[in-house]
Amino acid sequence: MKHPHVLIIGCGVAGATTALRLSEQPGVRVTVVTREPDALESNTRYAQGGITTVADDDRPENLIHDILEAGAGASSPAAAKILAEEGPLLLDRILRRSAGVVFDQHADGSPYYGQEAVHSRPRILHVGDRTGEAIMRGLLAEMHRRPNVTLLSNATVVDLLTFPHHSRDPLATYGAITCHGAYVFDRTRRTVEAIVADRTVLATGGLGRIYRNTTNPPGARGDGLAMAHRAGARIVNTEYIQFHPTALAVPGGEGFLISEAVRGEGGVLLTPDGRAFMGDYAPDRKDLAPRDVVARAIHHEMESNGYSHVLLDIGSHMDAAGIRERFPTIYARCLQLGIDMTREPIPVVPAAHYSCGGVWVDEWGRSSIGRLFAVGEVSCTGLHGANRLASTSLLEGVVWGDRAARNILASVDAEPESVINAADIPRWDERGLVSDADPALIQGDMQTVQNIMWHYVGLVRNEERLSRAIRELRHLWTEIEMFYRTTRLSDGLIGLRNAVETALIVAQAARHNPINRGCHFRQDSREETGRQSLAP
Ligand code: SIN
Repeated sequence: MKHPHVLIIGCGVAGATTALRLSEQPGVRVTVVTREPDALESNTRYAQGGITTVADDDRPENLIHDILEAGAGASSPAAAKILAEEGPLLLDRILRRSAGVVFDQHADGSPYYGQEAVHSRPRILHVGDRTGEAIMRGLLAEMHRRPNVTLLSNATVVDLLTFPHHSRDPLATYGAITCHGAYVFDRTRRTVEAIVADRTVLATGGLGRIYRNTTNPPGARGDGLAMAHRAGARIVNTEYIQFHPTALAVPGGEGFLISEAVRGEGGVLLTPDGRAFMGDYAPDRKDLAPRDVVARAIHHEMESNGYSHVLLDIGSHMDAAGIRERFPTIYARCLQLGIDMTREPIPVVPAAHYSCGGVWVDEWGRSSIGRLFAVGEVSCTGLHGANRLASTSLLEGVVWGDRAARNILASVDAEPESVINAADIPRWDERGLVSDADPALIQGDMQTVQNIMWHYVGLVRNEERLSRAIRELRHLWTEIEMFYRTTRLSDGLIGLRNAVETALIVAQAARHNPINRGCHFRQDSREETGRQSLAP
């Protein structure tokens, strides 16, 4: 066995799983980089609802059926099969046994399966409403015990190191695009180093922060998608941005997720004057209709009646002690903001939540660029189609993290140890960078991107909005690129550059696709749709 070096960019469930599985092989060196000062901070941490599995008296075929139904005709049956067949065993092996995660149980020790939209039966494992955090604490603790894993925090990747782009050898031009690591900005020392690797895995998470209203933390600004795009990777399905129907709409608590599990436990959406409205849009499933249908229904109620939010009532359907036990985080946050959810409904609005598309990968997590893998939300395995089934993303991160690791170990063993010469890699060139980034400019431009995306590339789209968004984003992209080329690096500047690039990718995909399907909805579409429910 050789001693390959694998660079993993990002440390959520998918990156951490890849690292753990790789490190089981003696001799493999793994470097995980995260821009966060504390590796616990990632999108995974904020996953409340849980992680799907196949319940004890359930069958993989049922989960496959539900994934395909939620995906509105665009989910890959092959990807759904892989998830449903491999997921439950890996969940047991990696999350329960390696990471020591203890999911909620009933008093008799049997698993407490939660219910979420479009799941034909309860099958969601959870740790209260802090499932993502429990998973990350377990995975990180195990990662720290592995001597061949190095974790670099406070380290923001600037760009992938790809040949021929970064090669000094003119003959490299004739080869396929191949990734050999990345240029990484040390946020403390403010220096850039090239980290050379035999394989690179993108695990940077999502892009919700390109929208004004989102459930995502600040790091979810499309870093991985933008750098893969600049390197020439194939990107697919980025018009399918999933909006979560219920983010908190209380001053000071904007974007805080109110888990779909609240509706799974019987919560009902109401207009501000107390009318339950989901039956008008989805008579059978009502509040547990597909997420895209519920989000658009809320948007329609708000827009046509001038409401600033709608309400989610769980207090009338579950006893107070049960609410406090099942949803301790949501209960505490709401109470802090003056809402006692056991006694009064919660004000909610939809918010950008998950990118169903991303860097195209095959069943092993391989992208279209040689030696570059992508796992988790930054990738598109095809699983989520046009609308992700709730609580499938954590499991997808585990399954494709495992698959990417297995493929890397098999492929590096079959190849020569190193194909590049360190002298062939140019050092980061800072000449011409004359000033420090002005935080006001960065914040202002970021807010402009977020407002454009929210108003023109949001839940309901049309040609006029999308072309306006693209014009404005192109102008901004040019300004930001000039700014980037003359300004000393900072994490904020790197993020802004990635955010505007990602916003353009999403807006262009949305404009290019005239067909309404799942979470991509155009008012002006004249094409038949897989599923279209807007007005009652
Ligand atoms: C939620 O708890 O509602 C989020 C779960 C998910 O997005 O899968």
